[in-house]
Parts: sequence; C-alpha cells; structure tokens
Amino acid sequence: MSEILYDDAHIAFLEDIWGEGFLSPGGPEEVARVLEGLDLTGRHVLDIGCGSGAITVALARDYGAGRVTGIDVEGPVCAAARRRVEEAGLGDRVEIRQVAPGPLPFGPGSFDVVFSKDSIIHIPDKDFLGAEVFRVLRPGGWFAASDWLISHDGPPSEAMQHYIAQEDLDFAMASPRAYRASLEGAGFTEIGLTDRNPWYAEVSRQELDWLTGPERPRLDREHGAGFIAQQEATWRALVGVLESGEHCPHHIRARKPA
Ligand SMILES: C[S@@+](CC[C@H](N)C(=O)[O-])C[C@H]1O[C@@H](n2cnc3c(N)ncnc32)[C@H](O)[C@@H]1O
Repeated sequence: MSEILYDDAHIAFLEDIWGEGFLSPGGPEEVARVLEGLDLTGRHVLDIGCGSGAITVALARDYGAGRVTGIDVEGPVCAAARRRVEEAGLGDRVEIRQVAPGPLPFGPGSFDVVFSKDSIIHIPDKDFLGAEVFRVLRPGGWFAASDWLISHDGPPSEAMQHYIAQEDLDFAMASPRAYRASLEGAGFTEIGLTDRNPWYAEVSRQELDWLTGPERPRLDREHGAGFIAQQEATWRALVGVLESGEHCPHHIRARKPA
C-alpha cells in the first residue's frame, strides 16, 4: 500500500489553517464561487477528492443536493469525512467511498454534477480524468472544480521544483492550456477557466503571517515545532511561486453536451 500523504497530523494542521473539514483554502466562500450559477437542488453530485468532508456535507446541507457521493483514495480523510457526515445527520444522502486511483467506479451517466476542490492536482493523467468525468456525467451535466495549476507547459522553474518537493504531496500540476485541451478532447463544451492566482497570492501571504505571528507558540505546542517549521518553509516557497504567477489556482467549469 502506498504512503499516506494526508495523515491525521496533516489533516489537523490543514484544518487549523483552513477551517474544520477543509483541506484547501477559501472556506465556504470559495466553494460558493466554484458553484456560482449552478442549481444543485435534488441533484446527484460526485465530489472527487472529498478530503475530510466539510464541502461534501455542504453540497447536501447548504446547496440542497439530493445525493452526494464523496470519493477519496486515503483512509484517514475518509474516516474524518464519514464522522462529519454522521455528525451532520446526513448519512441517508451523503456517502463517502474510499476508492483506488484510476477509473471512476461508477457507470455512465451516474451524476448530474461532478465537483472537485483542489484534488485533481494529485491525478497525473488529466486526459484520462477528463474522459472519466465526461463518462460518469449525464448528458447536459456540469463539471465544476477548483484546482492548482502551473502557468506554462515547460519544465517547472527551480522555485517551483523546490515548492513541489517541499509540499511532498505528489503534486502533478497541469497548465490552463493542457487542462482545456483535456476537457475539449473528452468532449466537453462551454469550458471556462478562471485564474484565482491574484486572490490566493494575497491570502497565502496572510497565511504565512498567521504561521509566523502570535499563533506560533500554540501551533508549535499543538502540532510540534518541527512540523510547523516544515510548514513555514512550505508556505514561504508557496508564496514565492504564487507571487511569480507560476502557481495559478483556477476554477474550472465545463458541460457535457445534452
Ligand atoms: C488538498 S485535499 C482537498 C480535499 C477537499 N476537496 C477539500 O477541499 O477540503 C486533496 C484530496 O485529494 C485526495 N486524492 C488524492 N488522489 C486522489 C485520487 N486519485 N482520487 C480522489 N482523491 C484523491 C487526497 O487524498 C486529499 O484528500
């Protein structure tokens, strides 16, 4: 079995910085932007890379999805997400499934909407992922995602290589051009990509200030000084590649033709 990347220590730290049940930045407001203009009422939604589940729960509780299926490849995040679903009393509408990387384990046309927040960065083959999302969507269904992209198709700069190594989370970043090509190749139409770099460049600086400010003694105590020092180094690298524009989180929207 492969190494766990999001273990309990990592989950606890990321939830400290990003909020209970969130393993990516921006909280409910950023989720609302990803979903802007989409009506999920009564819909069946797939959440790819559900992490510890705050968003998966919100899709049912706050957006009225009729059924939500959250999938993830790691045990600790699935366990945390299941607890969150139970606490929310949504066990009848929200299912968390631990899956193997690779083909999505669902039949054609299973979902009205496929959602994903900052998880596809872990899936190297975007062409295959695009084709799989297209296959499991019903005709007329929407793909709505946020993901962490690299601004170009060339080799990553030294700063980016350093950042990716520092994260140590098996990142496989694609460019906006490559992403669009994967979605077009899969058959999607109405493709839209929105660059969120200006927003996260600013927010990541605030996160670094938080990591190095008055909260630091508590963070060292609760997560371990060595772990937090490592995170500080990661955030310094992150801020650099966001400021250069090479790291460019995007919101992605595409439709399977009806
Ligand atoms: C940055 S976290 C985001 C989690 C959640 N979407 C959120 O925003 O809080 C990325 C998640 O993707 C999961 N992941 C990695 N590879 C995956 C794959 N092939 N399929 C589904 N999920 C995957 C990780 O285990 C992790 O929980």
